Amino acid sequence: MPLAPVIAIDGPTASGKGTIAHAVARELGFGCLDSGALYRVVALQALRRKVDPGDAPALAQLARDARLRFDSGRVELDGEDVAGAIRAEEVGRLASRVAAHGPVRDALLQLQRSFRRWPGLVADGRDMGTVVFADACLKVFLTASVEERAGRRFKQLKEKGYSVNLAALLLDLRERDERDRTRAVAPLVAAEDAWQLDATNLTIDEVVAQVLAWYGAVSEH
Ligand code: DC
Repeated sequence: MPLAPVIAIDGPTASGKGTIAHAVARELGFGCLDSGALYRVVALQALRRKVDPGDAPALAQLARDARLRFDSGRVELDGEDVAGAIRAEEVGRLASRVAAHGPVRDALLQLQRSFRRWPGLVADGRDMGTVVFADACLKVFLTASVEERAGRRFKQLKEKGYSVNLAALLLDLRERDERDRTRAVAPLVAAEDAWQLDATNLTIDEVVAQVLAWYGAVSEH
């Protein structure tokens, strides 16, 4: 049987990739891979076990040892649901540092590829179209201005009851973007054959409709 089709959605922090990926997957009846969650789990484990964020071999070992299970919104680490814990800003910040290490990325590669099953997969992250699923039939590079992304994250966090500061969020997003874009291994960059989509002035429904239209066009061939 040929490999199942993959739609890769890459882009910077808080560009709405996760929301779009889920909606597209639901429409098509595909599975969904939130690859950022894997780096976040490793970061959470590093925090709990007090592993130095610069110690690549120790972090890669954490990634190899973690018993992970993803199931309808749950993210299980060694049997514990950590879906909420990995969303903390502190964990996201550390994930961006953890993800800069080649050995950590290598340790997570096969696990990510194991999500590819029929009838298809929508995978979101930074290197879905460039590294993990370089043969994806549709690659989307989703961007939005940093102000728009910071504004959305601000709203999300406030709704969850966190006290947040917009200026600090902006600074933090800029730092994370910079680190994800300039790292030596698998940097955040649009694949040559990616379709660029700037969502700054679009609604979620409009972005989803555009991705589905592109998928419709490529899957006809
Ligand atoms: O998408 P996210 O914010 O949940 O990702 C958290 C961090 O993980 C992000 O700063 C960069 C890293 N990441 C990565 O390097 N490669 C991916 N495919 C996904 C996430």
